[in-house]
Amino acid sequence: MRPEEDGFSLQKVRDLPTLPLVASRALAVAENPSSTPRELLEIVMSDPPVASRILRVANSPYFRREREISDLQTAILHLGFRNVRNLLLAVTVMDTLTPLFQRSKTRPEDLWNHSSSVAAVAARIAGIARCPAVGTTFSAGLLHDIGKLILNCYLPRSFECILDLCEEERLPFAQAERRVLLRGHAALGAELLESWNLPSDLTQPVRWHHEPQRCPEPQRSHAFALEIADYAWHSHAPQDPAIPPPPREHLEAVGLTAESLSQVMQNEAQAVVPAPGL
Ligand SMILES: [Fe+2]
Ligand SMILES: [Fe+2]
Repeated sequence: MRPEEDGFSLQKVRDLPTLPLVASRALAVAENPSSTPRELLEIVMSDPPVASRILRVANSPYFRREREISDLQTAILHLGFRNVRNLLLAVTVMDTLTPLFQRSKTRPEDLWNHSSSVAAVAARIAGIARCPAVGTTFSAGLLHDIGKLILNCYLPRSFECILDLCEEERLPFAQAERRVLLRGHAALGAELLESWNLPSDLTQPVRWHHEPQRCPEPQRSHAFALEIADYAWHSHAPQDPAIPPPPREHLEAVGLTAESLSQVMQNEAQAVVPAPGL
């Protein structure tokens, strides 16, 4: 039997949602070297729900700061042009994908709670690693598992088969899907983001979040942070099959040891325990 995946291409999916105008305008501004923060500010302000979510993220504990950020201009100054653009892209992608949940068995709150928890912990790890683009790690965290939604919607028989394997053999999802598919959720998620021309800041960490050692520079530390944060989350979810701890070299790549990781997990207990997201 030909696997369901044979001949499957996101390019051929006719009902794939399109990115809203605010995202394509932000991409165009980011690609133009003569763009100014003012132009990005105007784009963000043109979409009040997106603007308020960016402000909420800017004020979240993952970007430790002394005073509350009450306006977008300060958010762009504090977080940086690129980080704000990536946050804008992540939240618009999340909104764009919402209709797909109606035809899938995945509950939006399950995916987004997991994703926002992983985003939060990954951002904290990126901070420890002194990674200058903590906002980008956070944005990639929000998007890291969107490929599961694609699988659920467009390769439903394979998705069911993976879930059965997870349950029957207590296998982690990423391991079970390797038995069923050539491309897993990480590759499919990245393909979707690439089809929308999203920057490699986001596509590469998403593609390699289960094999961060293969992620090209300069995005590799984001991919390591995602892998570790994903592990932290799953280790607090006893209903899920255990996933193996990241190898020591992966921890070292972001300045962690097994001891400091358990400290991070303790400090971030609220984020790593499944909880309401953004
Ligand atoms: Fe994943
Ligand atoms: Fe995940």
